[in-house]
Amino acid sequence: MSKYGLRFDLVETPRQIRQLGDFMRANVGSYGMSRHQAWVDDVCLPGVERGERPTLAWWEHGRMIGDSVLKVVAPNIVEVKNFRIRDGYDRHSLGSVMMDYTMDEAVALLDERGAISSDTNAITVQLDTGPDLETYFASHHFVTVGKAELYVPGREEVIMQRTVPLQ
Ligand SMILES: CC(C)(COP(=O)(O)OP(=O)(O)OC[C@H]1O[C@@H](n2cnc3c(N)ncnc32)[C@H](O)[C@@H]1OP(=O)(O)O)[C@@H](O)C(=O)NCCC(=O)NCCS
Repeated sequence: MSKYGLRFDLVETPRQIRQLGDFMRANVGSYGMSRHQAWVDDVCLPGVERGERPTLAWWEHGRMIGDSVLKVVAPNIVEVKNFRIRDGYDRHSLGSVMMDYTMDEAVALLDERGAISSDTNAITVQLDTGPDLETYFASHHFVTVGKAELYVPGREEVIMQRTVPLQ
């Protein structure tokens, strides 16, 4: 990996958290700047700092190019937020690589927090996304479980889940 300058890590240090904030603010997507910024500054980054939202990130030559924010929301369930690749870095399979790491991290996180019920043989990873990416996440084995107006008035987000069998 280092030959290509590509690096992957958990976001933990103050510098990495600052980079994450900059990356998120520069990649607003279609959520609306002020709403997105408030979520980044008031909800997401404080959660990352407190260790409540473990975050995976990818860098190329020191520049953040992808991230995935995880949170345990219920026993056996992890929510993924802001699964995103920097513009210009898409269509090179980074999304698939990030997805594999995210699934592994979701299981590890639930295990680490003692949040896997003893009677289950699978966990659930949940995310919400704009309608334009429903097909993309479906190709990664996510199934649509609902639609709701979550962020932008008049626009429904697609709520999707993927079941991950435990080894
Ligand atoms: C969606 C995203 C993660 C895809 O990453 P990627 O690295 O391009 O994905 P991969 O290279 O692993 O897969 C590429 C394949 O996925 C599919 N794909 C990629 N982007 C797609 C899109 N926007 N809609 C539908 N399918 C898409 C295509 O089939 C593509 O194959 P092709 O290049 O042969 O056409 C990336 O484009 C992204 O970060 N977009 C913004 C995400 C976002 O809004 N996140 C917030 C909600 S969670």
